[in-house]
Amino acid sequence: SSKPVYRATTTAPVNIAVIKYWGKRDVTLNLPTNPSLSVTLSQRSLRTLTTASCSAKFPKDDTLSLNGKPQDISSSKRTLACLSNLRSLRQQLEAADSSLPKLSVLSLRIVSENNFPTAAGLASSAAGFAALVRAVADLYQLPQSATELSRIARQGSGSACRSLMGGYVAWRSGDLADGSDSLAEEVAPASHWPEMRALILVVSAEKKDVPSTEGMQTTVGTSELFARRVESVVPERMAAIEAAIRDRDFPKFAEITMRDSNTFHATCLDSWPPIFYMNDVSRAAVRLVHDINSAVGRTVCAYTFDAGPNAVIYYEEKDSALVAGTAKAILGSNTEGWGGPFYETLANVTAP
Ligand code: PMV
Repeated sequence: SSKPVYRATTTAPVNIAVIKYWGKRDVTLNLPTNPSLSVTLSQRSLRTLTTASCSAKFPKDDTLSLNGKPQDISSSKRTLACLSNLRSLRQQLEAADSSLPKLSVLSLRIVSENNFPTAAGLASSAAGFAALVRAVADLYQLPQSATELSRIARQGSGSACRSLMGGYVAWRSGDLADGSDSLAEEVAPASHWPEMRALILVVSAEKKDVPSTEGMQTTVGTSELFARRVESVVPERMAAIEAAIRDRDFPKFAEITMRDSNTFHATCLDSWPPIFYMNDVSRAAVRLVHDINSAVGRTVCAYTFDAGPNAVIYYEEKDSALVAGTAKAILGSNTEGWGGPFYETLANVTAP
């Protein structure tokens, strides 16, 4: 046909931070006040599947559908920023090689699907923007590395920059005002610590109380604890957790993970007005993890919470009956009201 359809399909994983990103020094570019570090989760349980296509047959405007529902791209500055960055990289290729089809002038159709509840506090925006960027980059046959593409995904959702890689991923905050050095890099591949597991306890599938951008702005502007977190607490923890990952030292990894989740939620409580993401069921999960660790006499599990009540519990495979079994038995029959479901996942499998 004279009007071919070009197409690329990809998937991207969810990541859950163990050193939290909380605070923006630039809201437009999504530049963070501090570095962060996450574990990429297995796509068997949680992933976004995205197909990007372009054709002269398509209507003039780019379109995006998420789980079968058309989204309004024109009102999403973040999506527009990602697409315009990707288009200009394609334009550069086309300018250098006139034999390439002029895909950059064609409108895009992006179709995205999650295999888990969207906006349930399960980091769907991280997987979503990572998949969108990867799919369009593949469609455009861009030569850029995952780290270079992370600069684009970051503008969709900060945490998305960490979902372009598997294993253990650091987001270096960078110093430059244009964000060109604010990138994700793999600290260790999944194969370095293949025993790592994660259990996700969906406490509530409702939309979060305070959206992350708004919550971050309130914390940056009003919390007195926040400055100390950024200046000394996070830099020390980044170095310590990278060493714990290098040494596969689970007790050290676990303590830093739990403390950093607690510090993040403390700065939320210290914001004015205060922000609450954890609830009674979240706190029951915290107590259970500490109870299991003290009953066993060593640290076998660690909790962490993002901007919502759902718990993620990290543990090693050898302790899975103990940790996942106990958590399900106790919290699954919790009279405080359990939202369900549970996702048990290999905590880290290399992203494609
Ligand atoms: O990527 P955002 O803007 O949804 O922010 C995510 C922030 C946390 O999930 C709370 C922490 C993190 O590092 O992922």
